[in-house]
Amino acid sequence: MGLLKSLFTNCANPQGTMGRAMLRFMNCCHAPLTNWGLDLIDFQDGWKMLDIGCGGGATLKRLLNRSENSKVYGIDISQESVEKARKFNAEWLDKRVYVTQGSAENLPYDNETFDLVTAVETVYFWPNLPDCFQEVRRVLKSGGLFAILVEVVDSNSKWTELCEGMTAYPPEQLKIILNEAGFIKTEIHRGKPSNATIIGVKP
Ligand SMILES: C[S@@+](CC[C@H](N)C(=O)[O-])C[C@H]1O[C@@H](n2cnc3c(N)ncnc32)[C@H](O)[C@@H]1O
Repeated sequence: MGLLKSLFTNCANPQGTMGRAMLRFMNCCHAPLTNWGLDLIDFQDGWKMLDIGCGGGATLKRLLNRSENSKVYGIDISQESVEKARKFNAEWLDKRVYVTQGSAENLPYDNETFDLVTAVETVYFWPNLPDCFQEVRRVLKSGGLFAILVEVVDSNSKWTELCEGMTAYPPEQLKIILNEAGFIKTEIHRGKPSNATIIGVKP
């Protein structure tokens, strides 16, 4: 495998030195997409929020700063991501920020726990999206929001060749899967250059 390919394959499940480098890089380079996407949400104080595929933990910190007295949970399949996200949020760790290793397919949280669930640059790697979206719906409170943020929206993108196990979904397809999973008021927002945020509400 070429160096570039083995570096970018660490997007799917960061491991070792290259994984740590990729997590540092993603904490910075996903800032424009994440800040733009989170600006679309009307945050309320005291929210309980979950970021799935939290990577190096920058989104957890951004969520924390947008809702006073909130609690923020992160989950990621990669132990490397969990360690980095914990270090990145050391100030509030286990007080307002909680990070766990696990998968979107089987979330270790009770029904109707969260006001907001976010997924930034990660749904590309989730197995069986319809099942994962059902699982997100289960852990959301009634009226809670699921926000999917992506910048690779073309199924023929070069990124899907560079990252092993990556599938790019057009936003319209993500909206259909959200609707089929029982979300309502689903909306697609488009930004530049290819940013998209797809938001659904749990009835
Ligand atoms: C491209 S990185 C994005 C990380 C972070 N959200 C960000 O914006 O910087 C994708 C992350 O999703 C995680 N991931 C992949 N499949 C997952 C799954 N099934 N459940 C939870 N996390 C997953 C990877 O381990 C990785 O940390």
